[in-house]
Amino acid sequence: MAIVPNKITLSPLQKVADNLLQKHQVSLSIQRDDLLHPIIHGNKWRKLKYNLVLFNQSDKQEILTFGGPFSNHIYACAAASKIFKLPMRAIIRGPELDVSNPTLRFAKSCGMQLHPVSRIEYRQRNQSQYLEQLSKRYPNAYILPEGGTNAGALRGVAELANSLPEHDYLLCPTGSGGTLAGLAQGHTKKEVLGVAVLKNAHYLINEIRALSGPTATKWQLLTDYHDGGYGRFSPELWQFCQKMKRDHHLPLEPIYSGKMMYALWQLIEQGYFPSGSKIIAVHTGGLQGLQGLKYRGLINAY
Ligand SMILES: Cc1ncc(COP(=O)(O)O)c(C=O)c1O
Repeated sequence: MAIVPNKITLSPLQKVADNLLQKHQVSLSIQRDDLLHPIIHGNKWRKLKYNLVLFNQSDKQEILTFGGPFSNHIYACAAASKIFKLPMRAIIRGPELDVSNPTLRFAKSCGMQLHPVSRIEYRQRNQSQYLEQLSKRYPNAYILPEGGTNAGALRGVAELANSLPEHDYLLCPTGSGGTLAGLAQGHTKKEVLGVAVLKNAHYLINEIRALSGPTATKWQLLTDYHDGGYGRFSPELWQFCQKMKRDHHLPLEPIYSGKMMYALWQLIEQGYFPSGSKIIAVHTGGLQGLQGLKYRGLINAY
């Protein structure tokens, strides 16, 4: 199938009405990128889009990528592999492969080749020597980093920033920093705030600076809202996610979008945003992760 990436670029903007927003005289809209595509969600599609174009232009025959066993990136790549009929293989952080896990079961059903490796081997995923070995083993592979973060990814995310209506602050959750860097690259004047979902995320600041380049707009990484670290969340955070779904029809998961919204709520309560501020928060998808959390008994229903 020919890839026509421009067909998947529009997602709705949801305006949120809440007493807290009224009290602090700020407006909030959510860019619902979780609705960008039925299965290739959120920032995953933004990051994949130009990588698929680059892959098509290359002489490579397959895509090789990396991810944890519940990774949204693996899920999105597997979906893209099936939809666009692209052979894909993934190095999975193991050591074992639990194909009953809903993310990996889905990936396998899409035809993705899964290669479990030890955690020690997985740690080498960005090292040039390891990547050279992989290139020798899979000479026809276009190598896509974990989370899809590279220059092609930034271009797709910058496109989102350029498409947004007028606002003063733009928020996104931050894992590797590619989404924050892409939003900062696509912007000219506004402030972009990334909510780090992992502990001790200060090291990301230099990486995001290098990724976004000298022309990026003002951005900030907020490192105090990780709620225990990557993949961790408090019962209060999960209750907040469920309340947002009930009150605002806004589905959230507690690893990325929920953490960002919980941080946003706290910032508004603290009076961080001047009265009259227009805020846009990007819902980066990842709702497939809820199934994995349920599978591991970390949440009950959603
Ligand atoms: C749903 C979701 N939102 C946000 C992020 C964070 O994006 P980035 O790694 O570009 O910072 C991820 C992880 O890649 C994700 O899966």
